[in-house]
Amino acid sequence: MKNITVVGTGYVGLVTGTCFAETGNNVICVDIDEKKVEKLKQGIVPIYEPQLDVLFERNIRGGRLSFTTSLEESLKDAEIVFLALPTPPGADGSADLSYVLGVAEQLGEMMTDYKVIVDKSTVPVGTAEKVTAAIAKNAKADFDVVSNPEFLREGFAVEDFLKPDRVVIGSSSERARKVMEDLYRPFVRQGNAIIHMDEKSAELTKYAANSFLATKITFMNEIANFCEIVGADVDHVRIGMGSDSRIGNRFLFPGIGYGGSCFPKDVQALVKSGRENEFDFQILQAVMEINENQKTILIPKIKNFFRGNLEGKHFALWGLAFKPNTDDIREAPALYMIDALLAEGAAITAYDPEAMNNVRAIYGDRINFAENEYEAANGKDALIISTEWSIFRNPDFNRIGELLKDKVIFDGRNLFEIEKMNEKGFYYESVGRKTVEK
Ligand SMILES: NC(=O)c1ccc[n+]([C@@H]2O[C@H](COP(=O)([O-])OP(=O)(O)OC[C@H]3O[C@@H](n4cnc5c(N)ncnc54)[C@H](O)[C@@H]3O)[C@@H](O)[C@H]2O)c1
Repeated sequence: MKNITVVGTGYVGLVTGTCFAETGNNVICVDIDEKKVEKLKQGIVPIYEPQLDVLFERNIRGGRLSFTTSLEESLKDAEIVFLALPTPPGADGSADLSYVLGVAEQLGEMMTDYKVIVDKSTVPVGTAEKVTAAIAKNAKADFDVVSNPEFLREGFAVEDFLKPDRVVIGSSSERARKVMEDLYRPFVRQGNAIIHMDEKSAELTKYAANSFLATKITFMNEIANFCEIVGADVDHVRIGMGSDSRIGNRFLFPGIGYGGSCFPKDVQALVKSGRENEFDFQILQAVMEINENQKTILIPKIKNFFRGNLEGKHFALWGLAFKPNTDDIREAPALYMIDALLAEGAAITAYDPEAMNNVRAIYGDRINFAENEYEAANGKDALIISTEWSIFRNPDFNRIGELLKDKVIFDGRNLFEIEKMNEKGFYYESVGRKTVEK
């Protein structure tokens, strides 16, 4: 059992804290957001993340998980302090380290005995040195700084945290390495690796992994766009390519681009980090440009169908979250589509199983929200799909056909079989596949 403090109770911090409590540790989570901490204290999970609520409740009941707004109070008995703080893009695209370094300075003032300070936020190469310097400014006690990037996926965060593919630990301190190995032992029982390395390599591993995944998606999006021009079917190409074990069949699904709180900002931050070191990440520059365009790739198709004029058209929009199984809408392609459609004078009625409140907070009554996917479709000129929630995969096509003014679907996630749409008599456009005419 270890005493752990987790600073920041967002998607990463709350999952980290809860999962460490689940393996028998005493965890105090700290956040400056008083409303959030109040909710957490009342036993309310403020985000949607599958399985989290069950573990959360069990560990609060067991007295292993608690919440506070006071960093000082949380540190009293802590041996390990995790920083799960935001690192959003700054004005120039580089990661804004003010949250991480601000807390590091406070830690230096508050620490009274040895602690391992673990950076879980995604940060540029060299941040561990900056964190060390920020703590050392005021520190009266010994400490070590460890880089321990997090690879969890929103929507599978608990599963990923409890059974990680690997745990990366960047540290030059033998003492800190031992503390971290003990802490992570329950999560690597199946032989998944704890990989030790220096701090800089650990920091870069996270950016490299996310940038590679963003590149893989973007590569497929380019192939899909080319498929449309030459009349190939990206589904066949994807399966044909993916069966090569060097390529692998995951992350090859084309669509309307990547979004979320990680890929866009991490690719951008790595490019910026390159520039600061007089290195030009040409491939990532292209990835960013292609993805920007991909997010609204359906718009010209929709405009073309409606003869260039969307004024007064009313669309049903299925899916708002940047991907299924989350309520996270940061950099969601759906938002780019909404902006483009509103700019064209169209109206939108959206449905998402989890993300509607977050979108309502931004758009207010500029768009409408429906109770379910069928209500969204009722009386609309066409249906647009932007998130691949499972619930959208197998709808009652006859009912949708009756509800829509016209049987027209623009699918940004390739949810339906071409043959099925043909058989059901829909006009159907997707990404990288042939258009089904009515
Ligand atoms: N979300 C993901 O899927 C994911 C995955 C891997 C890594 N990461 C990285 O982890 C980090 C955190 O991401 P997130 O999605 O959890 O962010 P988030 O925005 O969901 O949560 C951050 C939390 O930190 C709190 N906070 C801000 N300043 C604070 C302070 N001074 N003291 C205490 N709390 C403070 C905020 O109130 C918020 O609750 C980022 O660097 C991100 O890139 C995120």
